[in-house]
Amino acid sequence: MTITAMNNLFAFQKSPYTFFDEVKPKNGKYIKKIRLGIKDFYFCYHPDQARYILKDNIQNFPKSDLVLKKILPLSGPKGLIQLNDQEAKSVRHCAGLLMNPKKAQRLSTYVEGFVADEFERFDRAASNGEVVDFKPFLTNLVLRTAGIFILNEDIQERANALNESFVELNRMAGESLRSLIPKPFSFKRKKHLDIIHRELDKIIDDCLLADETSLLHELKKKGFSRSFMRDQVKAFMFAGYDTTASSLIFAVDSIARDLRVQEEVAKESELNYKDSKYAQAVYKESLRLYPSAYFLPRQCAHDDEIDGVKIKAGSNVFISIRHIHRNPEVYDNPNDFIPERFLEKPKHTHGFLPFGGGPRVCIGEPLAIMEATVVLKKLCERYLLEPVNPEPPEIEGLITAHTKSPLLLRLKRRESC
Ligand code: HEM
Repeated sequence: MTITAMNNLFAFQKSPYTFFDEVKPKNGKYIKKIRLGIKDFYFCYHPDQARYILKDNIQNFPKSDLVLKKILPLSGPKGLIQLNDQEAKSVRHCAGLLMNPKKAQRLSTYVEGFVADEFERFDRAASNGEVVDFKPFLTNLVLRTAGIFILNEDIQERANALNESFVELNRMAGESLRSLIPKPFSFKRKKHLDIIHRELDKIIDDCLLADETSLLHELKKKGFSRSFMRDQVKAFMFAGYDTTASSLIFAVDSIARDLRVQEEVAKESELNYKDSKYAQAVYKESLRLYPSAYFLPRQCAHDDEIDGVKIKAGSNVFISIRHIHRNPEVYDNPNDFIPERFLEKPKHTHGFLPFGGGPRVCIGEPLAIMEATVVLKKLCERYLLEPVNPEPPEIEGLITAHTKSPLLLRLKRRESC
């Protein structure tokens, strides 16, 4: 291993999120070959490259084995994330059935309720001038919504044990991804996995007794086994929990810094979430600037070439979603928060990729958009939000990107409510 390859590996391990900035090529180039330890990686920064990998030449760029292995304990060996395109179809079909307009509407009423549950506390904080940390509230809301979607159960009561183990396993998976080298067996990891399996088995039993629809019910109708279903629950929780929570945190932080945007969202208060185009645009703009899934890992099956750079079969190709989202060819004033841009048609088919792209695009996208739209609307209808810290939050990223600090806000009740 050369010194440069070792230094690269250390730099990546220290901060994968900033590593993408550090190695970004200049002089009009958008792809960089980097040796990390003993392997070659290709970092891609342009939407045309994303189109090539995710659409035009998709057969040659399946998901990255390296990353799939790292997240296997969390996503389950038979969880959707790990399945090949053919196997994935029936699970994707089951999940799709739950996002039809009627079911989405039903779910949105739950989310409204979860926000309203906090109003008493928020009103008190508003009248006493107290500061509220929005992170635990938003994280809990996402977990409860995932519970309804996947299991048709409000897992509020059981959320603590699950939450702790999920967060811990997520952190361990992130650490392990960072090292890029296989990690030895870990008792701690096994302990958390046992907790998750035990809790999920109990929840799955209860859920299937109930006569309602959920992802589990749809999977059961297809005759899938218990362990297959449990893997799907894990995969959906893993893929949908951290990403959505962190995207909501970024979105609420972004509007708290922009009173004008809060006013515009509040103006839509009469509308159903589906018709609230401005609130949706706010969420998309926040996902553009702060995509929680900040890169897409792929692997090159056969030798290939992107923008004159030869890609060796077997190498990992990482698409930097974050840099594509700030490309000035695609977005005017790319670093500014301007939700209005999402009221118009996008300039590039692959210039906005917070949910990935191609046949394995995120299955939870409609759910995340619904959740965020409802949360933004309910908050802006009732309160004016103001950040305690005038500086934008610091961000770190392992598998997903997060703000480092709590989301401390001051609230004021709107006069109209
Ligand atoms: C803001 C929120 C979310 C973001 C940013 C996000 C992002 C992504 C991305 C980028 C992918 C593609 C990964 C790849 O191609 O390598 C993906 C896949 C996936 N997402 Fe999401 N996601 C979000 C919310 C959700 C939710 C709420 C759920 C479920 C309830 C979910 C479930 C999944 C699943 C199961 C996959 C794998 C799909 C497959 O392999 O066929 N996601 N997500």
